Amino acid sequence: MSARGTVRVPGDKSISHRALILAALASGESQIRNILESADIQSTAGVLRSIGATVPDLSPSFTMWGKGLRGFNAPGAPLNAGNSGTTVRLMAGAVSACDFESRFEGDASLSRRPMKRIAEPLTAMGARFDFARDDGLPMTVQGGKLSGIAWNTRAASGQTKSAILLAGLVGGVQVSVRELQKSRDHTERMLISMGAPVETDDLTVSLSPVDSLAPLDITIPGDPSSAAYFIALGLLRKTGYVILPEVCINRTRTGFMDKLIEMGAEIECEDAVAVAGDTSATIIARPSTLRDAVIEEADVAAMIDELPLLGCIAASLGLTLEVRGAAELRVKESDRISSLVSNLNAIGARAEERPDGFRILRGLRTFAGDVETRGDHRIAMAFGVLGALPGNDIAIDNLNCVDISYPGFWSELERVSQ
Ligand code: S3P
Repeated sequence: MSARGTVRVPGDKSISHRALILAALASGESQIRNILESADIQSTAGVLRSIGATVPDLSPSFTMWGKGLRGFNAPGAPLNAGNSGTTVRLMAGAVSACDFESRFEGDASLSRRPMKRIAEPLTAMGARFDFARDDGLPMTVQGGKLSGIAWNTRAASGQTKSAILLAGLVGGVQVSVRELQKSRDHTERMLISMGAPVETDDLTVSLSPVDSLAPLDITIPGDPSSAAYFIALGLLRKTGYVILPEVCINRTRTGFMDKLIEMGAEIECEDAVAVAGDTSATIIARPSTLRDAVIEEADVAAMIDELPLLGCIAASLGLTLEVRGAAELRVKESDRISSLVSNLNAIGARAEERPDGFRILRGLRTFAGDVETRGDHRIAMAFGVLGALPGNDIAIDNLNCVDISYPGFWSELERVSQ
């Protein structure tokens, strides 16, 4: 049996959140095509509507009128960010500059995730944050007049960087953010495409005050984090290939693919085209023989969401893989170091936790057992790929959690695995 087929993965999740937020802040009518229609993006749409933005029902192509940079109003009820860290962190940045109070709530997973990383810089700019507990949701933000800031982040985080940029944008003040490793840079690329005065060098981004943003006209490219599961399937099956058209290949997102190629994977990128300040291409993945690998901290940011999948690939090929400097995995939708290692051991692989990463050891290459996703979409999909390989017998406890980022994942996986 082979993996054979073409998979059109849905629009990129990070770019979809930003498209709605930036279109809501633009002056005039934005045009958005190929947005991701998933639970996380519905959370951002819902929060924006609660503060007065006009966000139509999500569909493959729609227009949206912006309110301008000062057009949001006080919400009549708490803002529910569901499972979405990007929604709460980016929107907290935007409302920090608005003269009203916003209370953010989320599901049990999101309520465990750290928010001080955005509260610290936004408080230094002049917003007030109140936490019901030590850190995490529920959280109240009293926005108002802000001052500019030059901030150094401790962990590479596209969300923290974007929260500061959005606060500067809405507050009309100069901001700059310096990172230790470069995080995903979609916010700054999209702002530039809307005419905002942004300057970047490799690790620093600065935004100067601006009165208005031009509307957005964007076709959102396919999500490389969703494509990763089908790249894995293409590599792990014995014959065939998988073709993934129009996937975003922004270099802050291709760490997984780049590392696999370094490990010997047969992955090709063809027909690269420019889209909304980014690049998309067709990716082709074929069965491959891979070498052992070590992932260091400097590699982590560009593959953060793909690390559990990389662990599953290594286990399936009987490789050793060591991942260091990835403590951020512990504060994702689940503690992904613990989720990955305990599930791999539960299905017969050999894996060990490290405080800031994990080790995959050579062991069995066929797996059977029960996977506990802990409601985490990326754990479900990573183990779903293993479950689709001939000879494996894996039961996944929560299939629906993939709706966070990839509704339709299971039917595509089944189709391509035939
Ligand atoms: C995201 C940034 C990353 C990533 C998340 C989406 C974004 O999180 O893991 O899935 O859209 O900016 P961090 O900012 O916490 O690294």
